[in-house]
Amino acid sequence: MTDRAMKLAQRVDLESRLSRFQIDGSTRTNLGQLKVMRNGGLETIIAHFYEYLRRFPETQALLKGHNEDRLRHRQKEHWTHLFSCDFDQRYVHSCLMVGLAHYQARVAPHTYIAAYSFFQSELLRAAIKLHTPAEVEALSISIGKVIMLDMSIALNAYILDAVSMKP
Ligand code: HEM
Repeated sequence: MTDRAMKLAQRVDLESRLSRFQIDGSTRTNLGQLKVMRNGGLETIIAHFYEYLRRFPETQALLKGHNEDRLRHRQKEHWTHLFSCDFDQRYVHSCLMVGLAHYQARVAPHTYIAAYSFFQSELLRAAIKLHTPAEVEALSISIGKVIMLDMSIALNAYILDAVSMKP
């Protein structure tokens, strides 16, 4: 799987992707202020996420046999990496590995996208509680951008071969 992710990563033009999603220094600065990443809020969101997945028979079945503590831990690493805005080839590779894991686990694309939507809603809800309205305005734009970036790369693990892709 690492080989496959490496081949896919070579086809992702990170600079072009960042520019398309309008991710720049101000996005990094905004997200550096995100309080939910500092006060244990992420763990709470991840716990809500697994409650959400257990509400649907399809996703409950997909989790069967997997060590949930390990999945929670990997989730935490993934979101922490994303919100650090440390975007480099290591990030692209890691994101593609995560996408491939879901492709191989047969998580349907709409289920995967809905999961990103769940996280986005939870993060926005937390930001509204913890920040001033002016901060929330900037944060919500930045949160949306990096979540969409991450989803676009993870889903490339599903579809990069299926479409003729320009960077
Ligand atoms: C926001 C979306 C999601 C993120 C960021 C995410 C994140 C992760 C991460 C980081 C891993 C560990 C991958 C590895 O170490 O190899 C993982 C594994 C896994 N995730 Fe997710 N996940 C998401 C959505 C989902 C959904 C909707 C399901 C459906 C039940 C799911 C089920 C699984 C399963 C079954 C594994 C284990 C795959 C394996 O190792 O065989 N995930 N996820």
